[in-house]
Amino acid sequence: MRKKIVAGNWKMNGSPELANTLLPRLAEVAKDIQADVLVCPPTVFASLAKNVAGESVAIGAQNCSDKASGAYTGEVSVAMLSEIGLSHVLVGHSERRAIFGETDELIAAKVAAAIEGGLTAVLCVGETLDERESDKTLEIVLGQVKAVLDTLSAEQWTQLVIAYEPVWAIGTGKTATSDQAQEVHQAIRNCLAEYSADGAGEMSLLYGGSVKAANAGELFAQQDIDGALVGGASLDADEFIAICRQAG
Ligand code: G3H
Repeated sequence: MRKKIVAGNWKMNGSPELANTLLPRLAEVAKDIQADVLVCPPTVFASLAKNVAGESVAIGAQNCSDKASGAYTGEVSVAMLSEIGLSHVLVGHSERRAIFGETDELIAAKVAAAIEGGLTAVLCVGETLDERESDKTLEIVLGQVKAVLDTLSAEQWTQLVIAYEPVWAIGTGKTATSDQAQEVHQAIRNCLAEYSADGAGEMSLLYGGSVKAANAGELFAQQDIDGALVGGASLDADEFIAICRQAG
């Protein structure tokens, strides 16, 4: 039975006040539902978030270094994230790929570092609008997935979650239709099965891109959609809680 997961990515938003108000409410809801709930605030608020979220909400980071330690100004290692009690890290978000120039090779190294350091990596993949309109969606998405899978053993997949986030749907209010999302999720799962049939069945695949309470239910009803990675709507306690409840 695959885990349902609803993850919130605060991106470079939020405040101690948001952590103090949203997370205790979310923690109460998370105790009542089957789905796992994860929140990824800015790293500077992660310790506070961990303290106020309790055990029912996992707290993750939005990025990590692929390096263990050393003269890497501004970077944060996996060990440091683990030390403050974080359990997850987002890797390869499209904003990291597009704005900060992260390559498939660096992303694969970060995923490996996260897993080896005991965290669960949430690998983000997705195509741009140009790529979709040129019929390259599956080529791009599966290429991003394979770049990481080629560096891992199937035993490590228990610490891997994949989030499909079409770039054109992120922060735009344009959600992929549930059919569009399911088509890509199914292709990802088929790709996983080429490496490990058992692993493919157990991997949680999340959809991200303008998920809100109004569209979450339909997305979650798809066979290969096991939850969501939520950006903007995760900053609103009522909206995020409504999404979490629909994941069960
Ligand atoms: O990580 C989250 C995604 O980028 C989705 O963001 O829900 O604001 O579109 P969004």
